Amino acid sequence: MQSAKILPYSSAPLTKAAPTPAQVMISLEGVSKVYANGHRCLTDINLRINKGEFLFITGASGAGKSTLLKLLYGAERPSAGQVLVEQHSVGKLRGDRLARLRRRIGIVFQDYKLIENRTVGENVAFVLWAQGYAPQEIRRRLIPTLNLVGLADKVDRYPKHLSGGEQQRVSLARAIISTPSVILADEPTGNLDVENSRQILRLLEKMQSLGATIIVTTHDQNLIRMGEIGGQRLNQLPVMELYDGKLFWVKK
Ligand SMILES: Nc1ncnc2c1ncn2[C@@H]1O[C@H](COP(=O)(O)OP(=O)(O)OP(=O)(O)O)[C@@H](O)[C@H]1O
Ligand SMILES: [Mg+2]
Repeated sequence: MQSAKILPYSSAPLTKAAPTPAQVMISLEGVSKVYANGHRCLTDINLRINKGEFLFITGASGAGKSTLLKLLYGAERPSAGQVLVEQHSVGKLRGDRLARLRRRIGIVFQDYKLIENRTVGENVAFVLWAQGYAPQEIRRRLIPTLNLVGLADKVDRYPKHLSGGEQQRVSLARAIISTPSVILADEPTGNLDVENSRQILRLLEKMQSLGATIIVTTHDQNLIRMGEIGGQRLNQLPVMELYDGKLFWVKK
């Protein structure tokens, strides 16, 4: 690890002015995660992300990036501390209440989680269908969203007939089609070439400009560097690093 880059551990908020509770989208307060087998994954994490902010979280394989995101969408519960999304304590939500919160979060899963016996179009449309959107609204959004990830021509293909990178882009389309207020993207470019990675970053930045709060995890330092040579604003995005169970600022 290049420790010279790492600023001292900080529990400071992303923006300097103290936000009102309504401005805070995500907050972790003293969060630790120890898995059932005794593996201590995260230790006393403090983080606050305001509405509309974009944060990269980097860290080596096994550093706990996916675990941190799982705590945010309620797939794992903290062993200590509190995880708040839109002022809801995610670790305490169950059943319908958790499902309702998750509907407002677009998730790009590291392992895609596509439904194998559904086409690309059905996989992506399912999100809107589950939220009760009218069929004409689903049709209105589907092809333009697939166009954004360059897959409109594969709308009728099944996941097993797609490359890894194409599946990854379907998973991104599914995460953004409902224009969610939060997007959690776990290694969203892990299987993509440079040009596709750049496009995905631009797309996420566009979602941010529409008001979404975004966290992108990556173990790929090149992705961050790519952000630096990308659009005008990408080079200003803050970066944190998970190391030894703690979060460090790399760039504010
Ligand atoms: N369900 C689990 N039970 C026990 N240990 C787990 C579990 N899930 C993850 N871990 C461990 O926690 C650590 C962090 O895992 P996590 O998947 O969050 O890492 P990551 O930073 O996302 O890695 P990668 O870059 O490879 O995706 C790893 O050491 C992993 O083996
Ligand atoms: Mg991971």
